Amino acid sequence: MDPFGRKIDYLRISVTDRCNERCLYCMPEGYKGWENKPDHLTAEEIVRVVRVAAGLGFRKFRLTGGEPLVRGDVPEIVRAMTAIPGVECIGLSTNGMKLSAFAKPLREAGLRTVNVSLDALDPAIYHRITGGDVARVLAGIRAAVDAGFERVKLNCVLMRGVNEAEIWPLVLFAAEHGLPLRLIELMPLTTTEVLTEKNFMPCGEAMQWLSRHDELIPQPDCRLGHGPAKYFLLKQTGAMVGFVGALTNEHFCDNCNKMRLTADGKVRPCLGNHVEVDLRAALRSGANDGALKELLETALRVKPLEHQFRNQYQPCRPMTAIGG
Ligand code: 5AD
Ligand code: SF4
Repeated sequence: MDPFGRKIDYLRISVTDRCNERCLYCMPEGYKGWENKPDHLTAEEIVRVVRVAAGLGFRKFRLTGGEPLVRGDVPEIVRAMTAIPGVECIGLSTNGMKLSAFAKPLREAGLRTVNVSLDALDPAIYHRITGGDVARVLAGIRAAVDAGFERVKLNCVLMRGVNEAEIWPLVLFAAEHGLPLRLIELMPLTTTEVLTEKNFMPCGEAMQWLSRHDELIPQPDCRLGHGPAKYFLLKQTGAMVGFVGALTNEHFCDNCNKMRLTADGKVRPCLGNHVEVDLRAALRSGANDGALKELLETALRVKPLEHQFRNQYQPCRPMTAIGG
């Protein structure tokens, strides 16, 4: 429990700040703030933190980045995590570029769910947003479906004038493949020119737009995974679409259940608040599990009531450095 009575049992672990894409909403252009690789937690250190966190009641875990799969040892990390008592569910968030090769080994290692970023289907628009190749991502999604994960979800960050025309094609794609699609409001976690009022597209607007094409049936009891999305079933297309209204939903933080661990070993109780608790220093100075547990408890104690995104928030680190 945190001081506001929220049960915090979900830890998102960034395994690297490196990425093989350059998404407009995640990384400032020409970003040079990379952490030194030796500062990244090792697989053993990550697994140790998971063990201590599981002892504290954490049950759900997600590996993120940067792009987690640029690090080759993710299947080994997953395998070691599955053996820890208390670890109920392990998921992965990826841009999909390397998913074709990794889907099967990850599934075999015990990974249960995969979230893939897919901000556009049109190759040129996809490339403009991410610098990557949508064909590779689509192959990765196919590989993930074939590998038999319990759930494969698609994430799209809404940006007016950039990918709004892609929403409908994405909905049709999601329906065709039976994959839930989440439409996510742009959060101020980078400093590129996309972070303007003009580019911000509220979930409400996407909903209105969709309701002109289809009927949105609320699914109040639908929880696909452990995130904050509110789901709707689109009657005609059959797509399941979730909205993540981090900025416009005043109650967004009420049911927050998570904390983050950055690749350089800081516990980040809230994505939208600069407060961090350093675990790496303790890990590397011979601290015992009891001391690590106390640091995690400290992080729970200082977890803010809500994010600061609405108050002219200036990120001290971009998304790629914090973990998606
Ligand atoms: N705003 C909203 N969502 C973001 N993501 C990354 N950066 C941002 C941002 N600035 C999302 C992407 C990715 C997930 C891990 O985080 O959709 O899929
Ligand atoms: Fe890489 Fe993901 Fe950030 Fe895009 S959002 S640059 S894929 S870490």
